[in-house]
Amino acid sequence: MKTLVTYMTQTGNTKTIAEAIYDEIEGEKEIKPIEDIRNLEGYDLAFIGFPVLQFDIPPNVKDFLSKNTHGKNIAIFMTHAVPEGFEAIHSWTGSCAQIAADANIIGTFDCQGELAQPVIDMLLQSDDPQMKTFGDMGPSTKGQPDASRVKKAKEFAKGILAKLQ
Ligand SMILES: Cc1cc2nc3c(=O)[nH]c(=O)nc-3n(C[C@H](O)[C@H](O)[C@H](O)COP(=O)(O)O)c2cc1C
Repeated sequence: MKTLVTYMTQTGNTKTIAEAIYDEIEGEKEIKPIEDIRNLEGYDLAFIGFPVLQFDIPPNVKDFLSKNTHGKNIAIFMTHAVPEGFEAIHSWTGSCAQIAADANIIGTFDCQGELAQPVIDMLLQSDDPQMKTFGDMGPSTKGQPDASRVKKAKEFAKGILAKLQ
């Protein structure tokens, strides 16, 4: 069985989770940024990860999911600044399921990732009160994903692999 871990990252949080997942995979495996993957031919399973940006799945990831996941075993992972359990996470997971409707989505993982300081500064300067509130949340994301999140990501990976055996 050949497994791919592919991810988008801007500040490294999603990469940290990708590497944790990769560590748990036995057998033939590859880890690559999503921009280096042309398609999923030759892989039996692909873990696909991204950061939530502007309350949505990044456009390049949407594009990748819609073009490449038909008939494929995939597992999704995402990082976000909002706390785990936040209502909107269901809609992001739902969007992935809609976009990759022809894929076999084996599971989804999400966890908090630190909001970069320039983004916090920009949000705090915004005239939009909602954006300011989001910026106020920034400091509470510091250090994420921490060791406990990394451990959960590894458990997620093990669970996905067990389902395919
Ligand atoms: C431009 C921008 C917009 C973001 N928008 C959201 C958002 O709408 N909701 C959210 O929970 N996190 C948001 N975040 C936070 C990121 O999803 C989070 O920090 C993530 O862990 C970053 O992952 P990365 O380090 O792999 O790029 C945003 C971050 C940036 C830079």
